[in-house]
Amino acid sequence: MSSIQNFFGEQHRSCDELFEKMEAAVSRDDWQQAGSLYQHLSDDTLQHFANEEQALFPLFEEKTGMRQGPTQVMRSEHAELRELLQRIGDAVQRHDRGEVLGTSETFFLFLQQHNVKEEQVLYPMADQALQDSLQELVDRVPGFRATTRG
Ligand SMILES: [Fe+2]
Ligand SMILES: [Fe+2]
Repeated sequence: MSSIQNFFGEQHRSCDELFEKMEAAVSRDDWQQAGSLYQHLSDDTLQHFANEEQALFPLFEEKTGMRQGPTQVMRSEHAELRELLQRIGDAVQRHDRGEVLGTSETFFLFLQQHNVKEEQVLYPMADQALQDSLQELVDRVPGFRATTRG
């Protein structure tokens, strides 16, 4: 079973796409489009972090007994990523193209490193450890279904 990898990995991909579209809108000075794409990106990213922090990580900790391990590292990275995301949002409001693109680059690199750790380490471990607890994720994560893609 790889339900967790599939679902949470898909959310990474979908946020990456929004991010690229937002950057493109900023690059062509389309601030109206950039503003609405930023809002969408921000909502989806924060929802994804919440899915992890409020559902996946606590279940992982409970089932594996690993409370000070990867989940703590991921939580502290989320905190930094939230700050960077907010800085991008403030710069979008001010139509500050240089600041948006500069902070976006930092945010995106950091996010990719974060996502790789989740996809290569945490999600595979979680798929193992939570095999029998997927219903709890279904109950707590909007849209999560305990099925594999293929
Ligand atoms: Fe994460
Ligand atoms: Fe994630």
